[in-house]
Amino acid sequence: MLTSNDVRQKFIAFFESRGHKHLPSSSLVPEGDISVLFTTAGMQQFKPYYTAPENALRDFGSKNVVTVQKCVRTGDIDEVGDATHLTFFEMLGNFSFGGYGRTEAITYAHDFITKELGLDISYVTFYKGEGVVPRDDESRQIWEDLGVADIREDGKDVFWGPTGDNGPCGPTTEIYCKNADGQDVEIWNIVFNEYFCDGSREKLDAGVANLKKLDVLGIDTGMGLERLLTVANGFQSVYETNLFNNEKTKEERIFADHVKASVFIISDGMTPSNTGAGYVLRRLIRRAVRFAKQPLMEEADRFKKMYEGTYLLNDHAEIEKEEHKFRLTLEHGLKEFEKGVDPFILATTYGFPIELTLELAKEKGITIDLEDFNKKMAEHQKLSQTASAGMFKGGLANHEPKTIQLHTAHHLLLAALQEVLGRDVKQKGSNITEERLRIDFAFDRKMTDEEKKRVEDIVNQNIQAGLNVVRREMPREEAEKIGAEMEFGAKYPDMVSVYFIEDKEGNQISKEFCGGPHVSNTSELGHFKIQKEEASSQGVRRIKAILE
Ligand code: ALA
Repeated sequence: MLTSNDVRQKFIAFFESRGHKHLPSSSLVPEGDISVLFTTAGMQQFKPYYTAPENALRDFGSKNVVTVQKCVRTGDIDEVGDATHLTFFEMLGNFSFGGYGRTEAITYAHDFITKELGLDISYVTFYKGEGVVPRDDESRQIWEDLGVADIREDGKDVFWGPTGDNGPCGPTTEIYCKNADGQDVEIWNIVFNEYFCDGSREKLDAGVANLKKLDVLGIDTGMGLERLLTVANGFQSVYETNLFNNEKTKEERIFADHVKASVFIISDGMTPSNTGAGYVLRRLIRRAVRFAKQPLMEEADRFKKMYEGTYLLNDHAEIEKEEHKFRLTLEHGLKEFEKGVDPFILATTYGFPIELTLELAKEKGITIDLEDFNKKMAEHQKLSQTASAGMFKGGLANHEPKTIQLHTAHHLLLAALQEVLGRDVKQKGSNITEERLRIDFAFDRKMTDEEKKRVEDIVNQNIQAGLNVVRREMPREEAEKIGAEMEFGAKYPDMVSVYFIEDKEGNQISKEFCGGPHVSNTSELGHFKIQKEEASSQGVRRIKAILE
């Protein structure tokens, strides 16, 4: 059997011997490009070099480089479980910034596939041209000269990029090989970066972005390692390769794929959260929990071993934490789902993602009124925004994980102040940054050191207790009736969102009108510390506090 190590080494050696510098994979969490959540292609770390190719020689000592890049793609998540689609995969790629052009790029790929690996090419594609981009007859001719019989013209699928908000892009030529079922599998995509697009791919497709010809043709290629191993070994699916454990059912495959992706994402420094890449991670873990027949950590450990010597996979205790948290939500939410509870309520009150509701509904042959859900969600978001326009209670403008944690700590702090200083302590103002929180509250004297210590202790006890943070939608009158904290003088809409922090018995430690977001469990907060307590104005005290 041809293993992943064999193929990685063959690929690197092949291109090294043809004047390429071998460079390491970049992180799955892109540095510098905030317009993408994950690294989805080998070229991403090289984006700037296509517009300034002269820098390649300076930075790499070569105009040509070769990498094996860790990638995460979520666009095809619904396809995961079939023979070839994965959320985490490795991309073998060779790149050139003015070092060579179409002839070399296509000939290298042809030779690597047919001579180095001895595989048959089923067919190749080339771009038919559109708008300012001409039909790629040059590539067609090169393939013909190499003796490839089946050469197919194609459209949008063979124009690649840009990634993110803008970037290099261009026509491509793809190589297809057959798997054991006789299915054609796309193996290699060879991109000719001849243009710079000033907008995203969506904008380009919608006709509202422009292409500008680059001075120097750039080469960007990507070949899926798992797919290549599949066809090279005469397998039917990627799960038969040495990078999986021969998972057979769709459920087993999704489970394996999602756990693997999570392990890699966590190793590159992400933690599950409610925004951005952290949210994708959370969704992957949660979806894995749903299909799990064994603890996620067992599977995670298997992958850690599998990639030993190739990638350093760090401690992934985050997976276990998230799994544990979600099992409770899942149990609870499933019961409500069975009762036929509205998907909107399932999402907002039980933290049950709509993707999950849709998946369950599909299995049971129930239809979900997605339009109705989206309408309610849109209203709900408007409401959160309306609320966040109000001073504090609405929520956070900044959704960084640290800020979200401090936001939840803020709720715990107000509750602790009321416990120590009296129920009539009212909040007057608030401000949260990534470093610290600040609360202004009505109180007419300096706090003693003992009082500060007690407040800190209460907050830290509530953090250690791992309390659930739950959001509920309710009419304003009801929220007022149950005594939810509200900002004095703020105006609230008829339907409001209230965040509850509750212990295991359902006792409420805190309840506040709030637009969120918050962490889902206080155990995520770390150690709480008051930095300063001072006068803010007549009868108003100010506390600044941090999470360590
Ligand atoms: N950047 C190209 C791709 O991801 C090679 O398919």
